Amino acid sequence: AGDETLGTVQEKSVSVVLLAGGKGKRMGANMPKQYLPLLGKPIALYSFHTFSQMIEVKEIVVVCDPSYRDVFEDTSDELPIALKFALPGKERQDSVFSGFQVIDGESELVCIHDSARPLVTSGDIKKVLKDAWLTGAAVLGVPVKATIKEANNESYVVRTLDRKSLWEMQTPQVIKPDLLKNGFDLVHREGLEVTDDVSIVEHLKYPVYITEGSYTNIKVTTPDDLLLAERILKIGA
Ligand code: CTP
Ligand code: MG
Repeated sequence: AGDETLGTVQEKSVSVVLLAGGKGKRMGANMPKQYLPLLGKPIALYSFHTFSQMIEVKEIVVVCDPSYRDVFEDTSDELPIALKFALPGKERQDSVFSGFQVIDGESELVCIHDSARPLVTSGDIKKVLKDAWLTGAAVLGVPVKATIKEANNESYVVRTLDRKSLWEMQTPQVIKPDLLKNGFDLVHREGLEVTDDVSIVEHLKYPVYITEGSYTNIKVTTPDDLLLAERILKIGA
């Protein structure tokens, strides 16, 4: 049995950092996009509920403006997880750092998720948790379907990238806490720029594993994404 549990993420060993501190400028709505209704329910509550029903999850740290805490509190009474809050920072990475400061010291994995991705499934979450458990750092991603070209500042093509080696990154991005701490130390010490969470770990030259996810795990960014998310939900993908 010892060997079997080696590859198994233990119950209550995961801290989720749910990012809901953005302003949603590209959506252009009258409130941050993560609180807009998707089939009548706030976008951020979809993944919140998915995580809260997973036995691996011990706590969810919601990084959000304090005025939106009741969105999560109102629904959390009957949930078998601890609910914590942290203040958002200026950039996404500052919000991740803020949430990371309040996670339980005994957690074995930090699972960082964009609340703007409501459609992530518990199946895909379990896969990426397991891969991070085995490797230290894993992220959901999907193979790029389009042809991607690199251009110069004048919009002329510089080169065509090899699609076979390109993956689009999604969330969750899952990292062991010690590794994330070392990564943040390095990033802050050297003032490095990071665009996603696993790139913090890449700066340590630590290998990051890509777990193949689903194309339906879209990020709601602009108004047409909201319509797409509705359709995906209705089909029941
Ligand atoms: N986010 C955050 N703190 C920030 C910036 C972003 O918690 N300072 C969160 C957003 O709430 C979102 C996720 O990070 O769930 C991904 O960011 P993005 O899709 O870019 O959302 P926004 O920054 O809110 O949107 P925009 O860039 O259009 O303003
Ligand atoms: Mg943004």
